Amino acid sequence: MTEYEQIVSTECEDKYIRRTPYEYRKKMGQFFTPIHVADFMSPWVINNKSGKTILDPAVGLGIFFRSILKSHPEDAHSYKFIGCDVCDKIIEEAKKLLIGVNEINIQLMNEDYLISDWDKQYDGIICNPPYLKFHNYGNQKELLELFSEKMNTKLSGFTNIYTLFLLKALKQVKTHGRVAFIVPSEFLNSNYGKKIKRLIKESGMLRFIIIIDFNSMVFDNATTTSCILLFAKDDYNHEVEFINIKDIDELNLIHSYMLSYPLMRKKGKVIKIRELDEAQKWRVYYQELNGSKYKNLVPFSSFARVSRGIATGANKYFLFSESKRRKHGISKDFLLPCLSKAQYARKHFFGSDDFERLRKADKPIYLLDAKDMNDTNLRKYIQMGEKQGIDRKYLTSHRTPWYSLENRPPAPILAIVFNRSGLRFVRNEANVYNLTSFHCVYPRVSLFLKLELLMAYLITDVAAEIFDDSRREYGDGLRKFEPNDLNDALVVDFQKITPDLETEILALYDQFRSLELKGKDTSEIKNALNDCFLKVFKR
Ligand SMILES: C[S@@+](CC[C@H](N)C(=O)[O-])C[C@H]1O[C@@H](n2cnc3c(N)ncnc32)[C@H](O)[C@@H]1O
Repeated sequence: MTEYEQIVSTECEDKYIRRTPYEYRKKMGQFFTPIHVADFMSPWVINNKSGKTILDPAVGLGIFFRSILKSHPEDAHSYKFIGCDVCDKIIEEAKKLLIGVNEINIQLMNEDYLISDWDKQYDGIICNPPYLKFHNYGNQKELLELFSEKMNTKLSGFTNIYTLFLLKALKQVKTHGRVAFIVPSEFLNSNYGKKIKRLIKESGMLRFIIIIDFNSMVFDNATTTSCILLFAKDDYNHEVEFINIKDIDELNLIHSYMLSYPLMRKKGKVIKIRELDEAQKWRVYYQELNGSKYKNLVPFSSFARVSRGIATGANKYFLFSESKRRKHGISKDFLLPCLSKAQYARKHFFGSDDFERLRKADKPIYLLDAKDMNDTNLRKYIQMGEKQGIDRKYLTSHRTPWYSLENRPPAPILAIVFNRSGLRFVRNEANVYNLTSFHCVYPRVSLFLKLELLMAYLITDVAAEIFDDSRREYGDGLRKFEPNDLNDALVVDFQKITPDLETEILALYDQFRSLELKGKDTSEIKNALNDCFLKVFKR
C-alpha cells in the first residue's frame, strides 16, 4: 500500500481497535467515525468562506482530515489541519500516519481540548466528540466553572462531555466559518438537553440537524442514535432544517444537496430558529408522531385525571414492613396499605393476594398515617422521628404537622413513572395507596365509560405506542412520563366505541385478566384487543 492509500483506508482504525482493549476505548470515548459519515461531514466544513484552518478537537486517527485529503488530493496542502487528542497513544499513531504525507500542513497536539487554547479561532471545526458521562471526567468542578464563565451561564453537572466540546467549538469558529459535529441525538429529547439547546439556538449558527436513525448502528459497539449538526457563522441565520436519514444511501443522496447551501430548495422540515423551543422535545420538529397515523384521538384528560403519587420526603421513616410495625407496636389503624416500588407490581393487575404476598415477604407496604396522638406507641415513633431530624427535611418541614400525609386517595389505575419498554398501567384492585414511582390515574367514570373499558385500552400496544409520543428520554433508553405528559397525551375517543364493540372488548378484557392472573400467555387476546381499538382509530 502506498502512503496515500494507507491514509485513505480505514485499516488503521481497524488495527487500533484490534490492539486496544475495549474497556480502554470506552473510558476514552474512542469510537471511530465510519468513512462515509466523515465524507459527508467534511465538505460542509471546507466549504467555509472564511479560510483554511481546520480543527478536529478529538482527532483520534484523523478520519476527517483523511477524508479531506482523499476528496481534495490536489489542494490538500493549502489547508492547515490542527488536531487535538487527550490520549498520547492515539496521537502518536496519528502522527505516524499523517505527518509528512503529501506535504500536508498539520499540527497534532496531545491536549485536553476542553481546557486548552480557548482564545484561538478556526475557519472550520469538525468533530466526533467523546461520549462520556460528565462524572467520569477528572476535574469536574473546575471544568464547570470554566465553562460557566466562558458561556456566561450556569451549566449543570449532568452534562455529557460531548455537549461541552460543541459549546466550545461554537465559541471558536470565525465569522463565515463552519462547524460539523456528530453526536448522540438523545439531548434533543431529554431534560438535560434544554440548556444546550438554548445555547445552540442563541448562537444563531445552527443550519441543519440530520437525524440518523439507521437500523444498523453507526458506531462499532456503541448503542446510540446519532445526529449530525451543521453550523454556519453566516447571515442566513433565520432557519434550521431537520432531515431524517434512514440508511446510508440516503446520506449519499443528500450529499450534493448540502453542498448547494444556502441556495437550495428545502428537503426536510424547516423551522424558524426563533421558533425553536428548548423546553420542547425537538422530536416534534423531525418525527412523525405515532398518533398522527390514527383518527378519533382526544386528550387523556377528557377521560381521566393523572397526578403524581404520595411524596413522603423520608420513605424509610414513613414506610413499615410487618416486622417493623411489630417492633414499634404500631396499630394497623395508623397504617395505610401502600405500593412503594414499581417492582412490587409486575403485572397489569395488583390484587389483595399480591399485597398479602409482599406483606409475608416483609416488604415495606404500610404507610404511616399518624392521626391519633393519644396512642402511646405512635407518639413515641413521632418523637423518634423528631430526634432523627425527619421533621426538618425539605418536604416534611413544609407540612403541618410535619408527619401529615398528602391527600391522594387510592387510584383505581396506576401508571409506572419510569420505564424502558413502554408505558405500563396497573389496575389497582387491592385499592392501595401509592408513592411517587407510580402516578395516580383517576378515571372520570361515567355512563359511557366503564373502568374496565378504559383499562382494556390502556393495556394495548396501540395505547403504549401513542403514549410514547409524550415520553421524556433519559440515558440508556430510560423513559419517563410526568403527570401532565399523560394528561396531555392522546387516547382513543371512547365515545366513538359502539355498544357491540364495547361488549366484545369487555369479554376480551375478562379473558386477558384471568389468563394473566393464572400466569398464562396473553399475547393472542392482547392482539385481539388491539384490533378492536384499531377499528375505532380507522373509522
Ligand atoms: C469519538 S472519538 C473520535 C475520533 C476520531 N476523530 C473519529 O472521528 O474517528 C473521540 C476522541 O476524543 C479523544 N478525547 C477524549 N477526551 C478528550 C479530551 N478531553 N480532549 C481531547 N480529546 C479527547 C479520545 O481519545 C478519542 O480519540
